[in-house]
Amino acid sequence: MSALRTLDDLLAEGVSGRRVLVRADLNVPLDKQTGAITDDGRIRAVLPTLGALVEAGAKVVVCSHLGRPKGAPDPQFSLGPVAGRLGELLGAPVHFATDTVGDSARSTVADLADGQVALLENLRFNAGETSKDEAERGAFADQLAAFGDAYVDDAFGAVHRKHASVFDVPARLPHVAGRLVLREVEVLSKLTGDPERPYVVVLGGSKVSDKLAVIEALLPTVDRLLIGGGMCFTFLKAQGLEVGTSLLEKDMVDTCRNLLERSGGKIMVPVDVVVADAFAPDAAHDTVRVDGIPSHRLGLDVGPETVAGFSAALSQAKTIFWNGPMGVFEMPAFAAGTRGIAEAITKADAFSVVGGGDSAAAVRALGLDESSFGHISTGGGASLEYLEGKTLPGIAALEN
Ligand code: 3PG
Ligand code: MG
Repeated sequence: MSALRTLDDLLAEGVSGRRVLVRADLNVPLDKQTGAITDDGRIRAVLPTLGALVEAGAKVVVCSHLGRPKGAPDPQFSLGPVAGRLGELLGAPVHFATDTVGDSARSTVADLADGQVALLENLRFNAGETSKDEAERGAFADQLAAFGDAYVDDAFGAVHRKHASVFDVPARLPHVAGRLVLREVEVLSKLTGDPERPYVVVLGGSKVSDKLAVIEALLPTVDRLLIGGGMCFTFLKAQGLEVGTSLLEKDMVDTCRNLLERSGGKIMVPVDVVVADAFAPDAAHDTVRVDGIPSHRLGLDVGPETVAGFSAALSQAKTIFWNGPMGVFEMPAFAAGTRGIAEAITKADAFSVVGGGDSAAAVRALGLDESSFGHISTGGGASLEYLEGKTLPGIAALEN
């Protein structure tokens, strides 16, 4: 990869009085009932970049997506609450525009004083943001680019998206990587370069189909690949076991069997699981061996023997990458697997990277000490695609 121009390069040019458009990933989880922000990790993660620009006297115009609205305004995905939280964390009010490139945005940006911060409404309220049509994306990018004299990409979680704010705006403005994007790329490139061995990867989460490409890409590189979470049941089925009513991707069973056969014993799957009567916090549940999953029950966590086996592998590791919870950690009855693995990672004498919004949220929700991990990535899909070795549109755009 060619060297990226960085925020420090931009600051060295001087930004006082200049409008700097910052693409952030403020796509934070919200409580379904109250709409309250349940984890503000992604807001905190862009503070170093925003703080440096404020300090340097820039007029800072922040833009982001939240959720997946369908190209039109949708109040449940408003960035309004995020503007409030961002202001609290910055210690100064954030001027919120109630549209993205309309009258409110234009006047909000025009009224900014040096060192002030504006946040535009959700980028995805505009069809041009995610359009596959270059011209439609380009027209929206023109409108966004009009709000900045320079562009900073600090939205690591979105660099794998070929979206207007990520891919097309940097083609229209002087552009640099923000502090978060730079740190993420530095850390992840250690994993794709020459990681210290043993290199152990833990993958969880619900869907095998989301993880197939990364499993393929990692198999030759890793020393051990530990598989838990909902996706483990498709692997167990591939071993000829019955998985009851657990999550199962039937069309992936052959692929998983093939991966197991080719893995040369590197892939470890659970030996015991916690099975429940229903997907509910108070469902009756027991731990069973994987060859004894009752036909009417579903697995919602990995069991203690699995945690012990995975932990033993992790204790040997010098480099660890973890993506995806081991079970339904949001329900206390099914959180022990994720907690056990997270604790094993923090105890290992290894450089550890946690990738993925859910795993990072799990670390914080379980009250674990974030500083005992080497790096907690803000990118889920982005960190996986980076490890797959894919070209990431947002990074490619910064390199040009
Ligand atoms: C994420 O949460 O994965 C990023 O914010 C990207 O969001 P997306 O998957 O909706 O593009
Ligand atoms: Mg995603």
